[in-house]
Amino acid sequence: MNSDDSTFETYFANPPADIDMEAFDRSRVPRHISCIMDGNGRWATSRGLSRGEGHKAGIVSLREIITACVRLDVEVLSAYAFSTENWSRPQQEVNLLMHLFAKTFIEELPLLHRENVKVVFLGDISALPEQTREVFEYGLKQTEDHTGMTLALAVNYGARAELARAARLIAEDVRAGTLDPEQIDEDTVAAHLYTAGLPDPELVVRTSGELRLSNYLLWQVAYAEFYITDTYWPDFDRWGLIRAILAFQGRDRRFGGLTQSKES
Ligand code: FPP
Repeated sequence: MNSDDSTFETYFANPPADIDMEAFDRSRVPRHISCIMDGNGRWATSRGLSRGEGHKAGIVSLREIITACVRLDVEVLSAYAFSTENWSRPQQEVNLLMHLFAKTFIEELPLLHRENVKVVFLGDISALPEQTREVFEYGLKQTEDHTGMTLALAVNYGARAELARAARLIAEDVRAGTLDPEQIDEDTVAAHLYTAGLPDPELVVRTSGELRLSNYLLWQVAYAEFYITDTYWPDFDRWGLIRAILAFQGRDRRFGGLTQSKES
Protein backbone atom coordinates (compact mmCIF):
# COMPACT_ATOMS: atom_id res chain seq x y z
CA MET A 1 0.00 0.00 0.00
CA ASN A 2 1.40 3.39 -0.87
CA SER A 3 1.87 6.07 1.71
CA ASP A 4 -0.36 8.54 -0.06
CA ASP A 5 -2.76 11.12 1.23
CA SER A 6 -4.81 10.84 -1.94
CA THR A 7 -8.52 11.48 -2.13
CA PHE A 8 -11.03 9.79 -4.42
CA GLU A 9 -10.46 12.55 -6.97
CA THR A 10 -6.68 12.28 -7.02
CA TYR A 11 -6.53 8.49 -6.71
CA PHE A 12 -8.83 8.09 -9.69
CA ALA A 13 -7.50 10.96 -11.81
CA ASN A 14 -6.37 10.21 -15.38
CA PRO A 15 -8.42 7.10 -16.18
CA PRO A 16 -7.58 5.03 -19.26
CA ALA A 17 -9.46 5.93 -22.45
CA ASP A 18 -12.11 3.18 -22.10
CA ILE A 19 -13.28 4.43 -18.67
CA ASP A 20 -15.76 7.28 -18.34
CA MET A 21 -15.56 8.43 -14.73
CA GLU A 22 -18.53 10.73 -15.41
CA ALA A 23 -20.62 7.58 -15.63
CA PHE A 24 -19.34 6.30 -12.29
CA ASP A 25 -21.96 6.66 -9.55
CA ARG A 26 -20.20 7.03 -6.19
CA SER A 27 -23.50 6.50 -4.37
CA ARG A 28 -23.85 3.01 -5.88
CA VAL A 29 -20.56 1.42 -4.95
CA PRO A 30 -21.05 -2.11 -3.54
CA ARG A 31 -20.87 -2.23 0.27
CA HIS A 32 -18.92 -5.47 0.10
CA ILE A 33 -16.59 -6.37 -2.77
CA SER A 34 -15.00 -9.80 -2.82
CA CYS A 35 -12.01 -10.82 -4.94
CA ILE A 36 -10.99 -14.28 -6.06
CA MET A 37 -7.36 -13.43 -6.76
CA ASP A 38 -6.47 -15.90 -9.48
CA GLY A 39 -3.68 -16.07 -12.04
CA ASN A 40 -0.53 -15.24 -10.08
CA GLY A 41 1.16 -18.42 -11.31
CA ARG A 42 0.19 -17.93 -14.95
CA TRP A 43 1.21 -14.28 -14.83
CA ALA A 44 4.67 -15.34 -13.65
CA THR A 45 5.04 -18.26 -16.07
CA SER A 46 4.08 -16.05 -19.02
CA ARG A 47 7.01 -13.79 -18.08
CA GLY A 48 9.49 -16.59 -17.45
CA LEU A 49 9.41 -15.89 -13.70
CA SER A 50 8.93 -18.24 -10.77
CA ARG A 51 5.43 -18.74 -9.31
CA GLY A 52 6.73 -17.08 -6.14
CA GLU A 53 7.37 -13.90 -8.13
CA GLY A 54 3.76 -14.10 -9.24
CA HIS A 55 2.54 -14.22 -5.66
CA LYS A 56 4.76 -11.26 -4.77
CA ALA A 57 3.28 -9.30 -7.66
CA GLY A 58 -0.18 -10.40 -6.46
CA ILE A 59 0.48 -8.78 -3.11
CA VAL A 60 1.28 -5.49 -4.84
CA SER A 61 -2.11 -5.69 -6.57
CA LEU A 62 -3.91 -6.48 -3.34
CA ARG A 63 -2.29 -3.40 -1.81
CA GLU A 64 -3.63 -1.22 -4.64
CA ILE A 65 -7.12 -2.71 -4.42
CA ILE A 66 -7.21 -2.15 -0.64
CA THR A 67 -6.30 1.52 -1.12
CA ALA A 68 -8.78 1.88 -3.99
CA CYS A 69 -11.59 0.37 -1.89
CA VAL A 70 -10.81 2.71 1.01
CA ARG A 71 -10.98 5.71 -1.37
CA LEU A 72 -14.32 4.37 -2.66
CA ASP A 73 -15.73 4.06 0.89
CA VAL A 74 -16.29 0.33 0.48
CA GLU A 75 -17.36 -1.16 3.82
CA VAL A 76 -15.89 -4.63 3.35
CA LEU A 77 -13.25 -5.94 0.96
CA SER A 78 -12.77 -9.68 1.13
CA ALA A 79 -10.10 -11.64 -0.71
CA TYR A 80 -9.51 -15.35 -1.23
CA ALA A 81 -5.85 -15.83 -0.32
CA PHE A 82 -5.57 -19.54 0.48
CA SER A 83 -8.15 -22.29 0.25
CA THR A 84 -8.44 -25.52 2.22
CA GLU A 85 -7.55 -27.19 -1.12
CA ASN A 86 -4.36 -25.13 -1.58
CA TRP A 87 -2.52 -27.35 0.94
CA SER A 88 -2.16 -29.86 -1.90
CA ARG A 89 0.22 -27.52 -3.79
CA PRO A 90 3.94 -28.39 -3.68
CA GLN A 91 5.23 -27.95 -0.12
CA GLN A 92 7.73 -25.35 -1.31
CA GLU A 93 4.96 -23.12 -2.70
CA VAL A 94 2.83 -23.55 0.43
CA ASN A 95 5.82 -22.58 2.60
CA LEU A 96 6.51 -19.55 0.44
CA LEU A 97 2.89 -18.41 0.60
CA MET A 98 2.79 -18.77 4.39
CA HIS A 99 6.02 -16.81 4.67
CA LEU A 100 4.72 -14.11 2.31
CA PHE A 101 1.44 -13.81 4.24
CA ALA A 102 3.29 -13.18 7.51
CA LYS A 103 5.85 -10.82 5.95
CA THR A 104 3.19 -8.84 4.08
CA PHE A 105 0.96 -8.48 7.10
CA ILE A 106 3.81 -7.06 9.22
CA GLU A 107 4.94 -4.74 6.42
CA GLU A 108 1.45 -3.42 5.79
CA LEU A 109 0.47 -2.77 9.42
CA PRO A 110 1.45 0.95 9.28
CA LEU A 111 -0.83 1.39 6.31
CA LEU A 112 -3.67 -0.52 7.95
CA HIS A 113 -3.31 1.88 10.89
CA ARG A 114 -3.19 4.98 8.72
CA GLU A 115 -6.16 3.91 6.63
CA ASN A 116 -8.08 2.72 9.73
CA VAL A 117 -8.59 -0.73 8.17
CA LYS A 118 -9.76 -3.55 10.42
CA VAL A 119 -8.58 -7.04 9.46
CA VAL A 120 -10.61 -10.18 10.08
CA PHE A 121 -9.90 -13.68 8.86
CA LEU A 122 -12.31 -16.07 7.21
CA GLY A 123 -11.14 -19.63 7.73
CA ASP A 124 -9.35 -21.72 10.31
CA ILE A 125 -6.14 -19.83 11.02
CA SER A 126 -5.40 -22.04 14.05
CA ALA A 127 -4.14 -24.68 11.60
CA LEU A 128 -1.53 -22.37 9.99
CA PRO A 129 2.20 -22.70 10.65
CA GLU A 130 3.09 -21.14 13.99
CA GLN A 131 4.89 -18.06 12.68
CA THR A 132 2.10 -17.12 10.28
CA ARG A 133 -0.57 -17.77 12.89
CA GLU A 134 1.20 -15.63 15.47
CA VAL A 135 1.62 -12.74 13.05
CA PHE A 136 -2.06 -12.97 12.07
CA GLU A 137 -3.17 -13.01 15.70
CA TYR A 138 -0.93 -10.03 16.45
CA GLY A 139 -2.32 -8.17 13.42
CA LEU A 140 -5.89 -8.94 14.44
CA LYS A 141 -5.28 -7.37 17.85
CA GLN A 142 -3.48 -4.39 16.31
CA THR A 143 -6.38 -3.52 14.03
CA GLU A 144 -9.40 -4.64 16.08
CA ASP A 145 -10.35 -1.10 17.15
CA HIS A 146 -10.14 0.34 13.66
CA THR A 147 -13.45 1.74 12.47
CA GLY A 148 -12.89 2.12 8.72
CA MET A 149 -13.06 -0.54 6.04
CA THR A 150 -13.00 -4.21 7.05
CA LEU A 151 -10.49 -6.34 5.16
CA ALA A 152 -11.63 -9.96 5.37
CA LEU A 153 -8.84 -12.30 4.31
CA ALA A 154 -9.90 -15.85 3.51
CA VAL A 155 -6.99 -18.03 4.56
CA ASN A 156 -7.32 -21.79 5.01
CA TYR A 157 -10.90 -21.19 3.93
CA GLY A 158 -13.39 -23.53 2.29
CA ALA A 159 -17.10 -22.80 2.11
CA ARG A 160 -18.18 -26.40 2.69
CA ALA A 161 -15.95 -26.63 5.77
CA GLU A 162 -17.41 -23.31 6.94
CA LEU A 163 -20.98 -24.63 6.58
CA ALA A 164 -20.10 -27.88 8.37
CA ARG A 165 -18.54 -25.83 11.18
CA ALA A 166 -21.68 -23.69 11.42
CA ALA A 167 -23.82 -26.85 11.70
CA ARG A 168 -21.53 -28.14 14.45
CA LEU A 169 -21.73 -24.85 16.39
CA ILE A 170 -25.50 -24.73 16.05
CA ALA A 171 -25.79 -28.35 17.22
CA GLU A 172 -23.68 -27.49 20.26
CA ASP A 173 -26.06 -24.62 21.13
CA VAL A 174 -28.99 -27.01 20.83
CA ARG A 175 -27.26 -29.58 23.02
CA ALA A 176 -26.48 -26.90 25.61
CA GLY A 177 -30.18 -26.00 25.66
CA THR A 178 -29.57 -22.41 24.53
CA LEU A 179 -31.20 -22.87 21.13
CA ASP A 180 -34.54 -24.39 20.16
CA PRO A 181 -34.24 -26.30 16.82
CA GLU A 182 -37.57 -24.75 15.79
CA GLN A 183 -35.93 -21.33 15.92
CA ILE A 184 -33.11 -22.14 13.51
CA ASP A 185 -33.48 -19.90 10.47
CA GLU A 186 -31.27 -18.22 7.87
CA ASP A 187 -30.10 -15.62 10.38
CA THR A 188 -29.00 -18.40 12.75
CA VAL A 189 -26.86 -19.97 10.04
CA ALA A 190 -25.41 -16.61 8.96
CA ALA A 191 -24.51 -15.81 12.57
CA HIS A 192 -22.41 -18.97 12.78
CA LEU A 193 -20.34 -18.35 9.65
CA TYR A 194 -16.90 -16.72 9.65
CA THR A 195 -18.59 -13.71 8.05
CA ALA A 196 -21.02 -13.17 10.96
CA GLY A 197 -21.83 -9.48 11.25
CA LEU A 198 -20.56 -8.58 7.77
CA PRO A 199 -22.86 -7.67 4.88
CA ASP A 200 -22.97 -10.26 2.09
CA PRO A 201 -20.77 -9.52 -0.94
CA GLU A 202 -22.65 -7.56 -3.58
CA LEU A 203 -19.91 -7.92 -6.17
CA VAL A 204 -17.55 -10.88 -6.65
CA VAL A 205 -14.58 -10.27 -8.95
CA ARG A 206 -12.65 -13.23 -10.31
CA THR A 207 -9.50 -12.64 -12.28
CA SER A 208 -7.82 -14.82 -14.92
CA GLY A 209 -11.00 -15.84 -16.68
CA GLU A 210 -11.99 -18.95 -14.72
CA LEU A 211 -15.76 -19.43 -14.45
CA ARG A 212 -15.77 -21.15 -11.05
CA LEU A 213 -16.58 -20.32 -7.46
CA SER A 214 -13.93 -22.75 -6.13
CA ASN A 215 -15.63 -23.44 -2.77
CA TYR A 216 -15.76 -19.72 -1.92
CA LEU A 217 -18.47 -18.08 0.22
CA LEU A 218 -21.19 -20.41 -1.12
CA TRP A 219 -23.82 -19.17 1.34
CA GLN A 220 -22.91 -15.48 1.23
CA VAL A 221 -22.90 -14.97 -2.55
CA ALA A 222 -26.53 -16.03 -3.04
CA TYR A 223 -27.41 -12.66 -4.60
CA ALA A 224 -23.98 -11.34 -5.52
CA GLU A 225 -23.20 -10.05 -9.00
CA PHE A 226 -20.25 -11.76 -10.66
CA TYR A 227 -17.61 -10.01 -12.72
CA ILE A 228 -15.04 -12.18 -14.46
CA THR A 229 -12.05 -10.67 -16.21
CA ASP A 230 -9.31 -12.39 -18.20
CA THR A 231 -6.73 -10.14 -16.54
CA TYR A 232 -4.35 -12.03 -14.25
CA TRP A 233 -4.49 -10.85 -10.63
CA PRO A 234 -1.04 -9.15 -10.68
CA ASP A 235 -2.27 -6.98 -13.59
CA PHE A 236 -5.56 -6.12 -11.86
CA ASP A 237 -5.41 -2.53 -10.67
CA ARG A 238 -7.63 0.36 -9.58
CA TRP A 239 -8.96 0.70 -13.12
CA GLY A 240 -9.85 -2.98 -13.29
CA LEU A 241 -11.81 -2.42 -10.12
CA ILE A 242 -13.58 0.63 -11.59
CA ARG A 243 -14.52 -1.44 -14.68
CA ALA A 244 -15.96 -4.12 -12.39
CA ILE A 245 -17.99 -1.57 -10.42
CA LEU A 246 -19.22 0.11 -13.61
CA ALA A 247 -20.41 -3.31 -14.81
CA PHE A 248 -22.10 -3.84 -11.44
CA GLN A 249 -23.83 -0.47 -11.72
CA GLY A 250 -25.19 -1.51 -15.10
CA ARG A 251 -26.75 -4.72 -13.78
CA ASP A 252 -30.44 -5.15 -13.08
CA ARG A 253 -30.53 -6.62 -9.56
CA ARG A 254 -33.92 -8.22 -9.01
CA PHE A 255 -33.34 -10.52 -6.03
CA GLY A 256 -35.89 -12.95 -7.44
CA GLY A 257 -38.46 -10.21 -8.12
CA LEU A 258 -39.26 -8.33 -11.33
CA THR A 259 -37.77 -5.22 -12.82
CA GLN A 260 -40.02 -2.19 -12.61
CA SER A 261 -40.73 -2.23 -16.35
CA LYS A 262 -42.05 -5.82 -16.12
CA GLU A 263 -44.17 -5.10 -13.05
CA SER A 264 -46.63 -2.77 -14.78
C1 FPP B 1 -3.95 -17.52 -6.93
O1 FPP B 1 -3.02 -17.59 -7.96
C2 FPP B 1 -3.43 -16.76 -5.76
C3 FPP B 1 -3.05 -17.30 -4.56
C4 FPP B 1 -3.14 -18.73 -4.25
C5 FPP B 1 -2.49 -16.48 -3.44
C6 FPP B 1 -2.93 -15.07 -3.43
C7 FPP B 1 -2.44 -14.34 -2.25
C8 FPP B 1 -2.07 -13.06 -2.27
C9 FPP B 1 -2.12 -12.22 -3.48
C10 FPP B 1 -1.59 -12.37 -1.01
C11 FPP B 1 -2.50 -12.38 0.16
C12 FPP B 1 -1.90 -11.68 1.32
C13 FPP B 1 -2.17 -11.88 2.67
C14 FPP B 1 -1.50 -11.03 3.69
C15 FPP B 1 -3.11 -12.93 3.15
P1 FPP B 1 -2.63 -19.03 -8.53
O2 FPP B 1 -1.37 -19.47 -7.87
O3 FPP B 1 -3.79 -19.95 -8.34
O4 FPP B 1 -2.40 -18.74 -10.05
P2 FPP B 1 -2.55 -19.77 -11.26
O5 FPP B 1 -4.00 -20.21 -11.28
O6 FPP B 1 -2.19 -18.97 -12.45
O7 FPP B 1 -1.60 -20.91 -10.98
